[in-house]
Amino acid sequence: MLICRLSNKMSAIVDSQRKMEQKIGFVPTMGALHEGHLSLIRQSKKENDQTICSIFVNPTQFNNPSDFEKYPITIEKDIMALEEAGCDILFLPSVTEIYPSDFKKETYSLGTLETILEGKHRPGHFQGVCQVVDRLLCIISCTNLYLGRKDYQQCMVIRQLIHLRSHPVIVHTCETIREKDGLAMSSRNIRLSPAEREKAVCLVEALRLIQKNIQAGNLTSLIQEATSLLLANGLVVDYVALTNQQLEPLDHWDGHTPVVGLIAASIHDIRLIDNMIVA
Ligand code: PAF
Repeated sequence: MLICRLSNKMSAIVDSQRKMEQKIGFVPTMGALHEGHLSLIRQSKKENDQTICSIFVNPTQFNNPSDFEKYPITIEKDIMALEEAGCDILFLPSVTEIYPSDFKKETYSLGTLETILEGKHRPGHFQGVCQVVDRLLCIISCTNLYLGRKDYQQCMVIRQLIHLRSHPVIVHTCETIREKDGLAMSSRNIRLSPAEREKAVCLVEALRLIQKNIQAGNLTSLIQEATSLLLANGLVVDYVALTNQQLEPLDHWDGHTPVVGLIAASIHDIRLIDNMIVA
């Protein structure tokens, strides 16, 4: 696997591969790779001639400085995992490669995506995500982009970014990979103590509770039940939401519309999110 640290070198490699009509798959990450990321690499390998992964812990998308400082970094392990998964190129830039001194900060028009759920609880987060993904897609003009569905709202934001900036790329959102007990894989899981890890499973349990009990009609008491389960396990709940696939809230269900359940909750200072199609 080639490791490339320079933006202009990375662009030159991609441009020459595209000139040879090669299909390029790209998996952007912040490292601390787990099976979820590796499944995206494998998917990309099946569908492209070249697979590129980036590891860059983007400072501009952390609304909480201590979350940024504590973000796990496991670069040696990540390189080994990428090599084993057959990744062709790792793009490993420094902050100044991504944000050089002449970098022009844009504001992206994201509409309500920025004011609901993750947008509401993490002000500025999605602007930071757009900033880095926009820059990465300018450097790596890939054919196919692979994202994990665990970050449901982020997938929608990145689709909106791609539309706004007319990046000629096809977005693939891939299923959430879970641990044996159902906990959604996340880089932040590394930070959980064994006791916290046991409690973390209640996010997926709350989603399964909703999936099992959802009925047409008012959804408020079901949301309350799921919230109580999280609170009983000592989690601090940012939200439990039931929405349609466009993330519009559903207080009342018609019994037909597909319903997405979304949860964000913290165990001490470790914030976890999960979602599931519950109906
Ligand atoms: O989901 C992530 O890991 C990040 O938000 C992303 C898309 C790599 C941008 O930094």
